[in-house]
Amino acid sequence: MANVAVVLGLNYGDEGKGKVSTFLASKSDIALRCTGGNNAGHTVEFKGDKIVFHLIPSGILNENTEAVIGNGVVIDPKVLFEEIQVLQEHNIDLNKLHISTRAHLIFPYHIQEDKLFEDLKEDDKVGTTARGIGPCYMDKADRIGLRVIDMYNPTFEKKLRRNIKNKNKIFALYNYPILDEEEIVKQYLTYRDMMKPYVIDTVAYLHKALEENKNIVCEGAQATGLDMDLGDYPMVTSSNPTIGGIQTGSGIGARYLNEVYGVCKAYASRVGEGPFITEQNNEIGDTIRELGHEYGATTKRPRRCGWMDLVALKYAVNVNGVTALALNHLDTIGKLGKAKLCVGYQLDGKVYDEYSDDIIGRENEVVPVYEEFDTNFAIEKEISYNNLPIDAKRYIERIEKHLGVPVKFIGTGPDNEDTIIR
Ligand code: GDP
Ligand code: IMO
Ligand code: MG
Repeated sequence: MANVAVVLGLNYGDEGKGKVSTFLASKSDIALRCTGGNNAGHTVEFKGDKIVFHLIPSGILNENTEAVIGNGVVIDPKVLFEEIQVLQEHNIDLNKLHISTRAHLIFPYHIQEDKLFEDLKEDDKVGTTARGIGPCYMDKADRIGLRVIDMYNPTFEKKLRRNIKNKNKIFALYNYPILDEEEIVKQYLTYRDMMKPYVIDTVAYLHKALEENKNIVCEGAQATGLDMDLGDYPMVTSSNPTIGGIQTGSGIGARYLNEVYGVCKAYASRVGEGPFITEQNNEIGDTIRELGHEYGATTKRPRRCGWMDLVALKYAVNVNGVTALALNHLDTIGKLGKAKLCVGYQLDGKVYDEYSDDIIGRENEVVPVYEEFDTNFAIEKEISYNNLPIDAKRYIERIEKHLGVPVKFIGTGPDNEDTIIR
């Protein structure tokens, strides 16, 4: 029987999905990205190299693992080829990379629209990564998006010119720069040829792999809190980073998904605007940021930091059907001396230990209910779970108790090898 493992972010992104996916991919035939685009930044430290992935599944670092960019991903070809070049410099075999015919393309007008649409939101800015992700998914929903396969159709140039002209009318209206139609067309006709060797019907490819009992790791991007339907709308990304996005973004049926690994950190972070109930916008947050090196892999923005929120995590576990957790940054929490876990939300005299719609729009009024833990420990290399300091185990076991799922992988450092398997 084929084995499909899914790796999903449970918070607001940057939980260490790349590290966990690369680790799991060492025993997999195929590593797959299904959702999002180069808003993602997945940092992986592997055999002495440190690489930041934005589009290509990080599992490609394993010699025998093929890599697939699935149909649900939105691709900025410029970023794709920059990433390919970095991997070539690291001697990674790019013949292993396959890109879906049905993935949508990001064009320069999407990037400019991302800026414009943020401006128009006035006080309600999302704080996007400004990579054109939202506008690309908007065009997909509007049915004017252009997919990889469309580049190889004789009507491509006509459709692209139409889109550029229409977008330029919008830019003119708002006094935004007019984009150079000829330049964009020329550039994308070049990308068309450059991309050709990688393009396949990934849905058929994955179905065949399943028939052949191959092992597949799906590397989620973004996270539950950023999900367009199930996250903190409107402070979300424009796709579904939860489990459903894995299926629509790959064409893999539900019955094949046997492991769903939810990734979280031993504290929490968020980048961009939006609610963050356990945020420590103070010295504690600053300390976590410095100890955990919490600066964006994509935009370099300082990440907002705070405590782990078990109420939000329980919701994420349920939404995704998480079967086990990967908990990263145990080493970082060990340097803090003390740490808190949020086990409830207090609002209007009531305590919620599960996520409720009652708090939507009132996140600022919620008083988190915390339990405090001693977390003053150093973690030796290659330590087993049993030999972990008692305070570390107490912390982990409290998390498991609230979430009702086992912590299977524990991150003890940024390197791929810094992982305890339980
Ligand atoms: P992703 O977007 O979910 O893949 O996560 P990012 O790569 O954006 O952010 C996670 C950061 O934490 C990266 O810099 C990782 O190298 C680092 N990291 C992951 N796991 C651990 C861990 O267990 N300990 C430490 N110290 N760093 C970790
Ligand atoms: P990975 O895969 C953290 C956030 C942005 C912003 C919101 C919408 O590395 O975990 P977008 O550009 O998607 O329209 O921005 O979502 N965001 C992320 N935050 N990690 C990510 O990806 C993110 N991708 C998007 O900061 O708040
Ligand atoms: Mg990231």
